[in-house]
Amino acid sequence: MASGVPRRRRGPGRAEEAAGGAPGPAPAPLRFPGLILYLAERRLGRSRRAFLTGLARAKGFRVDQAYSPEVTHVVMEGCSAAEASSWLDRVLGPSGAPQRPLLLDISWFTESMGRGEPVPVEGRHCLGVPLATKSQEALETLAEAAGFEESQGRSLSFRRAASVLRALPGPITSMSQLQGLPHFGDHSSRIVQEVLEHGVSREVERVKQSERYQTMKLFTQIFGVGVKTADRWYREGLWTLDDLQGQTRKLSRQQEAGIRHFEDLSTPVWRHEADAIQRIVEEAVWQVLPGATVTMTGGFRRGKLQGHDVDFLITHPVEGQEAGLLPKVMGHLESQGLVRYQHTRNNHYQDTKDLDHMASRNTCMDAYESCFSILWLPKPSPSFYQKSGEGPKEPIRDGKAVRVDLVVAPISQFAFALLGWTGSQHFERELRRFSRAEKKLLLNSHGLYDPEKKESLPATSEEDIFSHLGLQYITPEQRNA
Ligand code: UTP
Ligand code: MN
Repeated sequence: MASGVPRRRRGPGRAEEAAGGAPGPAPAPLRFPGLILYLAERRLGRSRRAFLTGLARAKGFRVDQAYSPEVTHVVMEGCSAAEASSWLDRVLGPSGAPQRPLLLDISWFTESMGRGEPVPVEGRHCLGVPLATKSQEALETLAEAAGFEESQGRSLSFRRAASVLRALPGPITSMSQLQGLPHFGDHSSRIVQEVLEHGVSREVERVKQSERYQTMKLFTQIFGVGVKTADRWYREGLWTLDDLQGQTRKLSRQQEAGIRHFEDLSTPVWRHEADAIQRIVEEAVWQVLPGATVTMTGGFRRGKLQGHDVDFLITHPVEGQEAGLLPKVMGHLESQGLVRYQHTRNNHYQDTKDLDHMASRNTCMDAYESCFSILWLPKPSPSFYQKSGEGPKEPIRDGKAVRVDLVVAPISQFAFALLGWTGSQHFERELRRFSRAEKKLLLNSHGLYDPEKKESLPATSEEDIFSHLGLQYITPEQRNA
């Protein structure tokens, strides 16, 4: 694989130059906006720090020489969690800071350099993980595992307990802090207690190590594979991706694409990649329907730096113009060779005019024209993949497969679609529950329906919807929890 890749020759003395702080490899354009690294010098030493700084910059990372509150990721070597957080306390001063950066072990940095992009932060990378985070992780694992057994109720209880912890201002340090918190049943409390006393929960560790959990986690991560399918495969004795690839007749077109692009699709999508996809989608949309707008929704609209896919909502200021847009847009993208998989759905409104009917539907599936796809994002330049050290070189890939969801809404329902597709899923669920329980109104991605008066409440913006619900406007960034 790597043999076909041209290797750039480096003159002798290059590494020493970098180590001495002289300009090393030229910095590449920044590729990960929102991510600002700081390499703490202690233990690392000055020359190694200079070398690693040059390496990261050549790969398009922003690395600051001085610590500032802007820094999002602090990398340290050979530090214990306690040392790391006391270092941070010292740097931040007595007043502390509202936004603490991630404290990461050098292993996160090394892995990210190896991949040419930041790898997702995992527990093992973290220095100074507050206990609350460990408890959250434990509860989320149980929520996930319950989901694999189709115990939706149990799953939701664990998930709610975890998000209560996430919303707390600081970590839980004693059981008394759980008193009076909503959504904390016996089981969730027991897990937190175990984590507080032993650092881990034995129950959760057992789950994580089980063959069943690991296989279900792997399979449900495949695009187009839900819990039912994963469970069936598991019971048929299929446990790995290789097992599946040997059974292609069992796979749908979607699952086959999901497995073919498994690696790309399990790598997070970065903000700049989402922006690049937006430009590609916009160009196609404007070819087909000038005047249409393409709005990024999902986690990126909530300000997240990475996501598992990119979600877009398309509309046109003239009601009706948007109908039937997607097949043409996808055709255009296909002709550019950018489509790896797609499933386009017509809108299935009973009657386009009947907003009341759609708004009153008590289902989380909406009826919009939509397309679930895997698009190909070409890499702007392969130079990002040059390595400045020894060792095997990564093959230069010419692009990356990205999951993209496109949804088309008529302008009259746009605000509801925008609210519904911005998420988070948890936020949507709670908001809908609130509307139903407190306001006796049914909210979904099509409208807000008053079942008593048998009519829909109109809205031209998200602000309108919140005000119908008697709520202050909640910004997308505030909808993460
Ligand atoms: P996502 O699943 O894309 O989640 O759904 P996300 O918040 O963007 O996070 P990533 O992608 O994992 O980073 C975005 C929103 O769209 C809604 C979900 O409820 C969520 O709020 N959605 C998703 C639907 O309404 N219908 C769908 O079929 C899928
Ligand atoms: Mn998304």
